[in-house]
Amino acid sequence: MNLKDLYIDFFVSKGHKQIPSAPVVPENDPSVLFNTAGMQPLIPYLTGKPHPFGTRLVDYQKCIRTNDLDVIGDTYHHTFFEMLGNWSLGDYFKKEAITWSFEFLTKVLNIPVERLGVTIFAGNDYLDKDMESKELWRILGIQEGHIAETEKDNFWIAGETGPCGTDTEMFYFRSDDEIPSIFDPEDERWVEIWNDVFMQYFKHEDGTLSPLPKKNVDTGMGLERVIAVLEGVNDNYKSSVWKDVIKTIEEVSGKPYDGNEKSMRIIADHIRTAVFISSDPTGIKPSNTDQGYILRRLIRRAIRHARKLEIDINSNWEEMIATSIMDNYSKYYSEIKENRLVVLEVLKNEKIKFNRTLDKGMKEFEKIINNIENNKINKDLAFKLYDTYGFPIELTLELANEKGLDVDIEGFKEKFKKHQELSRTASQGKFKGGLASSGEVETKYHTATHLLNAALKEVVGTFVHQKGSNITSERMRFDFSCDHKLTDEEKTKVEELVNNWIKDSLDVKVTEMKKQDAIDSGAECMFIEKYPDIVTVYSIGDVSKELCGGPHVKNTSEIGKFKIIKEEASSAGVRRIKAVIE
Ligand code: SER
Repeated sequence: MNLKDLYIDFFVSKGHKQIPSAPVVPENDPSVLFNTAGMQPLIPYLTGKPHPFGTRLVDYQKCIRTNDLDVIGDTYHHTFFEMLGNWSLGDYFKKEAITWSFEFLTKVLNIPVERLGVTIFAGNDYLDKDMESKELWRILGIQEGHIAETEKDNFWIAGETGPCGTDTEMFYFRSDDEIPSIFDPEDERWVEIWNDVFMQYFKHEDGTLSPLPKKNVDTGMGLERVIAVLEGVNDNYKSSVWKDVIKTIEEVSGKPYDGNEKSMRIIADHIRTAVFISSDPTGIKPSNTDQGYILRRLIRRAIRHARKLEIDINSNWEEMIATSIMDNYSKYYSEIKENRLVVLEVLKNEKIKFNRTLDKGMKEFEKIINNIENNKINKDLAFKLYDTYGFPIELTLELANEKGLDVDIEGFKEKFKKHQELSRTASQGKFKGGLASSGEVETKYHTATHLLNAALKEVVGTFVHQKGSNITSERMRFDFSCDHKLTDEEKTKVEELVNNWIKDSLDVKVTEMKKQDAIDSGAECMFIEKYPDIVTVYSIGDVSKELCGGPHVKNTSEIGKFKIIKEEASSAGVRRIKAVIE
């Protein structure tokens, strides 16, 4: 079944514009490593900013959740998933949202109405019960007993603060048992398939709610789950989403799926997520921090499970698996089509790196567990496995668990911290979600990024193009195409030029124009295909013109003093500048 096409076509027929999936790594939002929900890239628009595509949007969004890698291997968790969603930005509200959800489920997916159950918001001390949704469902034909009310589960927010609202969730009765007359959302035979959130509040840090400028609708349907449910399989990995990749794993291992489910699921899931991270336009590579560390962990864990299946890990097994994944997704994601070779190179290099030490590391591990005291791997040994043999601590933990042993994680972390700045992923609990606002400082950095881009072109050459950027309130990071290490002279010149432009108090102007006109007028743009037909262009005096979503300062004099802290290689042909403003 091609759920993505059905979904997009349906909502386009209801006046929605399809928007492309945002990169899986949020740009300029340092508080999360990955987009975890379809609505995340749309937050600025849910809180009031006009969207260039209009007020009715539909898409499929790449999402990654890695807060609990250990659960991967069961029948239904995935680190990567696609979320289908339709949005109203101050356009339609409950009536249309619910009516269209019902129509899509019963007319397009042909789900018998008796198999559907819905939940609505029950009301609490501050907010009334959502009688309107209840009534809408009833009129559409959902039987009274299949409309349940909850308080907790029918209020949706990403993290702690931000746009939010009550919601109504749709469930499907997946069992062959007789359909109960009363729908109980806690009964596992009912599976949640879709969620319509009525975003009309903003939750502040003190816990209070205030109304948003406009009432929005945010819906989310997890694609892999819905496909599994509709195809009647009890194991997601037996659905059409995973069929080809599992078959490829069976081929490369010479083993059947049945009996080897756990390792095969982990390999399928982790390689798929690695494909999506490494093909993302943000250009993440395996490393020991942030997204790069997650990528490394995923690949190394997949390698470990390939070994368990006795796959010859020096063969091109990872290439075959990744290729079958990319074949399935290329049609929907241009970045996968374009970055096939990059992905294969990332996987291969990481495999070679890990293979070099994996055997020795496994021997070391066996030695450790034979001489172990009180069933615990101490911090020194855990650190040695990490430092000498490249075992991510989570891998040591997994191996230890399989043998019923503990690991001194706290001790390891302390030791780790002493040796290098602790991976920010772990220390800041970044997996948990929660969204940063673009504060004043970040806004200054945004504008400084444009100036830096322009200065590099002027000093280094017009061949310089932005390859990525990441901003926190403390610094900016800017990746650009360049074939050489910048000389000291180049760095100084770039710095001077940016600071002169800041001193010149240049106005920052924003205009909307047709994409083609913007390109023709020489505006800079990182991923042209990611932009809609009408684009926002920011120009700074006459030194810079870029397609960008903002936000930016009004005048460069607001920025402060710009300083380059570091210039280094990022990947082949790409250099990275870290800079601060003082
Ligand atoms: N934000 C809601 C969710 O993730 C609906 O898109 O479920």
